[in-house]
Amino acid sequence: MCPYKKTSVLAVIAAAVLAAAVPCNGGITSSFVRSPEKSGDMPLDSDVFKVPPGYNAPQQVHITQGDLVGKAVIVSWVTVDEPGSNIVLYWAENSSYKYKANGIKTKYKFCNYTSGYIHHCTVNKLEYDTKYYYEVGVGNTTRTFWFTTPPEVGPDVPYTFGLIGDLGQTFDSNTTLTHYEKNPNKGQTLLYVGDLSYADRYPLQDNTRWDTWGRFVERSVAYQPWIWTAGNHELSYDRTIGETTPFKPYSHRFHVPYKASNSTAPFWYSVKRASAYIIVLSSYSAYSKYSPQYWWLYEELPKVNRSETPWLIVLMHSPWYNSYNYHYMEGETMRVVYEPWFVEYKVDVVFAGHVHAYERSERVSNVAYNIVNGLCSPVSNPSAPVYITIGDGGNVEGLANNMTEPQPKYSAFREASFGHATFSIKNRTHAYYSWHRNQDGYAVEADSMWFFNRFWHPIDDSTTAA
Ligand SMILES: [Fe+2]
Repeated sequence: MCPYKKTSVLAVIAAAVLAAAVPCNGGITSSFVRSPEKSGDMPLDSDVFKVPPGYNAPQQVHITQGDLVGKAVIVSWVTVDEPGSNIVLYWAENSSYKYKANGIKTKYKFCNYTSGYIHHCTVNKLEYDTKYYYEVGVGNTTRTFWFTTPPEVGPDVPYTFGLIGDLGQTFDSNTTLTHYEKNPNKGQTLLYVGDLSYADRYPLQDNTRWDTWGRFVERSVAYQPWIWTAGNHELSYDRTIGETTPFKPYSHRFHVPYKASNSTAPFWYSVKRASAYIIVLSSYSAYSKYSPQYWWLYEELPKVNRSETPWLIVLMHSPWYNSYNYHYMEGETMRVVYEPWFVEYKVDVVFAGHVHAYERSERVSNVAYNIVNGLCSPVSNPSAPVYITIGDGGNVEGLANNMTEPQPKYSAFREASFGHATFSIKNRTHAYYSWHRNQDGYAVEADSMWFFNRFWHPIDDSTTAA
């Protein structure tokens, strides 16, 4: 049985139907069955990869938060014919005064590939809650985009984050991005949980597939910040072709404001945005005791002021709680090191990718174990985060559709479908989360949950009975 605590008649009927269809041991395994075919990468001449017209036109334009609090933006783009200009011109809506910011450019070689000129420019001292236009390029080939800065950081500021992971560049990836863009509950900033282009699956890790990916996602990420997390496909390590510097393409192409949170590397950092404190961790950098990431997180968590940013969100690539037969327990070593802190500091939610499916956990922890006591089963814990696996962006490796059975008690809902999610903060106590599968209409929610904040409103918000 899958008994429900919530008592709406509809929910009870739905539960009865699902329970009859899918035996489980606590949570729900969705009965939705998706066609198992995988869609390949979109061909190079696809319209979504089109190079913008004009000599040396800026392409692959993308933005991310540029400081700790949301008053700066990092604008990045690529030029291929010549270096071009590093300047971003920008102006507030309703203002004719144009400001100018100077950036830097870089390029890299990867095996037999040489990148274009990759520009990064931090635009500082922006006003909160303001729409800005920005222009990159010079001469006849300038391109103009816009973004809206977040409201000033504060405890009751409503704000909606989108969530995508493991996107890749297949026809399914395109469907996921379209569904995200057309979701009527608009995400204002996207939290990206790692594995971007999957270029490393090509012979010699053909980095032209990083360029196509940059052009593919521009239609969203040029207009709203994506907060980046590094996944295993960003490692780009291949000793056999002489490429032994981890994260080389990723770290040249995607700059993040890691120094603003006193991090010493771009793979772990934090930002505040509206009423959220977002901590990004790296599953593929050292994280054990005494590592740089360990000491950074050790100092970072006590800095989170829940009176200023009530919502504490963690992003990582490899999930800690995952009941699919893919990447099973790969997150375990990091869990052992950091989970006691997540419980102590009452993290609200952890988003991860890596497993190409969807799963939402109960609030559980597994911190009692030591090497002799045998206490190694996850237990319900109201101070623990909800763990959400959202690695279902639709990449070329296809779906993870083989689950461990029976469904573990810690798993509240799981389904092997591609999709995206939104996390919509209403105030300091409530946030509405919903997951959307690609087969449905844009407004349809396939899973949802009201989150009660762990600091301000730490009552039971489980959607299923324990
Ligand atoms: Fe991955």
